[in-house]
Amino acid sequence: MTHPSKSDRLEETVVLGASDLSERLLFQLATLPPDGDLEDGLWALVSTFADGSEDLAVGLCVPQGLSDQLVIRHAPRPSRPRVMDAARLFPEATHEEVFPIPHDEGSTLHIGTDDPMDVLLRRNAEQVALAVSAALRRHRLVTSLKREVQEVEQLRSQAVQSDKLAGLGRMAASIVHELNNPLTSIVAYADYLRRRWEQQGAEPSDRERLGRISEAAGRVLTFTRDLVAYSRPSSADPSAMNIHDVIERALLFCEHVIAGTNVTLVRTYGDLPPVRGLHGPLTQVFVNLVTNACQAMEQDGGKLTIETAYDADRRVVAISVLDEGHGIQSDKIDRLFEPYFTTRGDGGGNGLGLNIVQTIVASHGGTVVATHNEPKGARFVVELPTGR
Ligand SMILES: Nc1ncnc2c1ncn2[C@@H]1O[C@H](COP(=O)(O)OP(=O)(O)OP(=O)(O)O)[C@@H](O)[C@H]1O
Ligand SMILES: [Mg+2]
Repeated sequence: MTHPSKSDRLEETVVLGASDLSERLLFQLATLPPDGDLEDGLWALVSTFADGSEDLAVGLCVPQGLSDQLVIRHAPRPSRPRVMDAARLFPEATHEEVFPIPHDEGSTLHIGTDDPMDVLLRRNAEQVALAVSAALRRHRLVTSLKREVQEVEQLRSQAVQSDKLAGLGRMAASIVHELNNPLTSIVAYADYLRRRWEQQGAEPSDRERLGRISEAAGRVLTFTRDLVAYSRPSSADPSAMNIHDVIERALLFCEHVIAGTNVTLVRTYGDLPPVRGLHGPLTQVFVNLVTNACQAMEQDGGKLTIETAYDADRRVVAISVLDEGHGIQSDKIDRLFEPYFTTRGDGGGNGLGLNIVQTIVASHGGTVVATHNEPKGARFVVELPTGR
């Protein structure tokens, strides 16, 4: 019987040892949950390598973002003081070698030993570095996929909401359309009766009452016609417009809201260049802002100021709607533009107004910001680019 020579045996041990570690690493990689915690996964790989080697210290440094890094230390002896330096993880060991992790810039594997590293250990370290590289790549891929799935979810729910809003718009338009016919009859018959009574010499007070019916119905009719026009889907291309006309039209829509409160309207209009946009949606922006301002002043009344100004340097038209109402609580100010955020509970509000405002303003390339109005109330500033 022939015995293998010492060098043969060593070779055999080297090959067996290496493949054994590969298998264990492969097994660890295969059993790591795809969306599991990164630190747990890396610990499992490091332990697979370090377990059983009593004097071996194994560590990892993985940069996370610009200033942070994940450090893993699997050491037989604690370091004193505790070290988190990417250049030297095991100052207590006599030797420390650093291996770059392939395909992951900045990430390193650290091996601390008392004796200089031999070929086998170095080869094993390279295998661990490869396994860590695979785990990191998988983790980064899963993280970016998760982010994308979240973004798609968000877009989907925005689409559902836009759809609901479009449905609400269609419903409002059809209600207004239905109101149109009876209102036309009311105006026509009231006029007819008034004329008859004028001819027949009826009571002057009755004639005046009929006049009021006719006038009130006429106003509602104008309002509903305008409303249908402005809720019609905007097939129109954007056109240049004077934003003051848009505001005035919005104020007309809000006449009844303003009249129902003790609000004094103040216009401080500047000299503005035209803005390109869609008349209907922009009207809706100011209808919502003015309505909100009036609702905030429902209790105590106050001054509703509409200020406009042109910032020539930034080429934007700024429209501020200021009120002296109950104001906005500081912890709520960031949430105002969220869909369905409302403090007017019990059916008072849907929490959609400001979300619609923001969507329309953004579609015109502008911004809308809410701040506190000093000393009292709220201020909403819409900025629209003039493009010149
Ligand atoms: N001028 C304002 N002053 C104080 N709070 C305001 C003002 N405008 C809006 N808010 C707050 O922002 C919330 C959201 O406003 P938004 O217009 O989106 O919804 P809403 O007015 O509650 O309901 P609706 O869908 O009928 O407009 C309001 O419930 C209110 O709390
Ligand atoms: Mg509102």
